[in-house]
Amino acid sequence: MGLLSSWRGLACLVISTILGRWFYSSRVKQERYAKLQAGPPTVLSSWSFGLNFVVSMFRAILKHKFVDWTQDLLNNNHHTLELHMLGANLLLTDDPENIKAVQDSQFTEVAKSKEQHEIFKHILGDAIFALNGEDWKKESAVLRPHMSRVRQSDFEVTERHMKTAFDILAIPGRDAFDTIDRFVLDVVTEVFCGESTNSLTSNQQPFRDAMDKLLKIASFRQLLGCVRKAGLYLRDDWIAPAATKFIDRYLDTFADHAYARKANPDHPKDLTLIDDMIKMGKSRADVKNAVCATLLAGKDPTTTTLAWAYYEIAKHPEVFAKMKAEVNEHLGADQIPTLQDFHKMKYIRMVIKETLRVHHPLGYNARVPIKDMTLPRGGGPDGSSPVAVLKETQIFYSLLTLQLRDDLGVEDVNAWKPDRWETWRPGNKWEYIPFNYGPRICIGQVFGNFQMEYFLVRLCQEFESITLLPDSKPQEGLVRLELNTKTAHPILTKSVRVARK
Ligand code: HEM
Repeated sequence: MGLLSSWRGLACLVISTILGRWFYSSRVKQERYAKLQAGPPTVLSSWSFGLNFVVSMFRAILKHKFVDWTQDLLNNNHHTLELHMLGANLLLTDDPENIKAVQDSQFTEVAKSKEQHEIFKHILGDAIFALNGEDWKKESAVLRPHMSRVRQSDFEVTERHMKTAFDILAIPGRDAFDTIDRFVLDVVTEVFCGESTNSLTSNQQPFRDAMDKLLKIASFRQLLGCVRKAGLYLRDDWIAPAATKFIDRYLDTFADHAYARKANPDHPKDLTLIDDMIKMGKSRADVKNAVCATLLAGKDPTTTTLAWAYYEIAKHPEVFAKMKAEVNEHLGADQIPTLQDFHKMKYIRMVIKETLRVHHPLGYNARVPIKDMTLPRGGGPDGSSPVAVLKETQIFYSLLTLQLRDDLGVEDVNAWKPDRWETWRPGNKWEYIPFNYGPRICIGQVFGNFQMEYFLVRLCQEFESITLLPDSKPQEGLVRLELNTKTAHPILTKSVRVARK
């Protein structure tokens, strides 16, 4: 009897403590909302403390259906909502006004989170993506002069690796994503680090394999990060110790070679990014961080966009015919393009813009508020009033579904139609954001565009036709989420070269 009553007493104490804490934190929250003069967005919570969202989210990622998952939630909840998952809060939005606020007008109120830094540590080190404030400004000043230009020598490097890439693309049944990825990697390492990985000519891809493994883990950890920082506890060096060690050793080798080169060209502007950093007296750690930033920022979005373009071209022979006609008119079959030539290639640009619209290569992005704040939309009964976002909420904004919203006046929004750009323009600039706007705009936009234009122009000159093989799986609406939104399946084609006499 005594034992029973003491158990009852203990149970009452536990329940009243939980309820007390719950009432207290709800009151504190209400006070914070009142100070902001804005209410919360639609909140989705559930009987299982959000476990059902965690399960459905990971299931969607594994089935490559994360776009559907995001759209289902956002389209039914005024395009901004909050998910409560195991005690953590995730604000999900694809409202252009909110994205504008996060990226530009309220830029100083948000930051890249410490968790993001921790999660990407083994891939990015202290690279620019994970930095805030003065550190970010300093890193940006070092990278910008190199990444925002195209030199004559970049054409030569690109052409050399492209020839190898085209030889591989011409072999039926080779995955075009893989070939394009190796091509872009070989170019960016040579252009920015002074030494190519030459992955196109090697069967072994230890660096790429290690990087891909860590990216996969990091993407999962980032999403788990919404769940009470769970992502932090699953460290890369525990899950994939060989890959983390390999990346570190590999970056060391890059740095060793760069220090040994002691490059000193007649024209300082010809120095590569890494050689320039060494000349500036930057530390070894800084050099390794810059190599990381280059390998990741300079490779994945360009690869992803070109691979999607290749897939779409293979499905749309009429588009490839128009591209070829344009290249033939301005350059003919053999002339290598120059920067001036690209200005004339209006249709090639339309193909790139449309690919970036339907297949945004970054897809998603995240920031955290550094203090309680409001965003312009998502509050009130119809979601059109400002919405309160409390400190520590993860703001997860979806660029891919923003560009595929069917209520923003884009006809046949999911269809890949480069010709639409003949007459169509986005309603406002925040509805189409492949390279970001605001202070954290992509600093490699010029180089990325150059690589995509060069590849597509030369593709038109070198290939007669590109068709998908019957065993190439459909990829519409699917993405493989590995930091970027890559093609879900290999792109298997029969790509026939132009017959040369
Ligand atoms: C199709 C090609 C590309 C696309 C669509 C793209 C897109 C983007 C986007 C959306 C961001 C903003 C990320 C954020 O807000 O967190 C970004 C940042 C960045 N991009 Fe690109 N990018 C491309 C190619 C490149 C290339 C080729 C380079 C380098 C050579 C590069 C270097 C960078 C860097 C360093 C940043 C960080 C800027 C900062 O945080 O201040 N990008 N890019």
